[in-house]
Amino acid sequence: MEKLLQYINNVRPLTSLKALDTFSRAGEWATYRFASMVKTLECWEYDSQHIERLKRNFPNAIVRQVDSIQQMQQHSQRYDFVFIDNPQGLYCDNKYCEHFEILGHIHRVVTDHCFVIFNCNNKPYVNPEKPIEYYNKWIERRNIF
Ligand SMILES: C[S@@+](CC[C@H](N)C(=O)[O-])C[C@H]1O[C@@H](n2cnc3c(N)ncnc32)[C@H](O)[C@@H]1O
Repeated sequence: MEKLLQYINNVRPLTSLKALDTFSRAGEWATYRFASMVKTLECWEYDSQHIERLKRNFPNAIVRQVDSIQQMQQHSQRYDFVFIDNPQGLYCDNKYCEHFEILGHIHRVVTDHCFVIFNCNNKPYVNPEKPIEYYNKWIERRNIF
């Protein structure tokens, strides 16, 4: 992440970028690495249990409790730096899969020279609490994509 941020900063100063984090949680895993470097930060998170902590972690950010994929379809603002750190596998009651659905909508929120960062899981892990049917559905969705 540091190398990536350095690279971006050499192309355009991070301090000049309006940033959007589309899957924020409380921002403690990755978002915090760039949050204080960008000009402005907006955070979108679906799950209410993370919102208070997210606001506390980034008091200067605009925080919205929204479904990011739906929000993109009705949002009128655009950003210079978009960070996409979605959950592994299927999420939102299996409505979405990995980065796939967001790809069709991201053009609505980016400026002409936006940096779009996909945080991809190189080693997806098997969660023993999830039934085998979940994995079968996930693989099926991947194959369709
Ligand atoms: C991998 S975590 C994000 C970690 C975060 N970027 C960080 O640095 O701490 C993914 C988050 O996406 C949220 N999420 C899942 N579906 C969503 C949706 N449709 N819209 C917005 N957030 C969603 C989950 O609740 C979860 O908190």
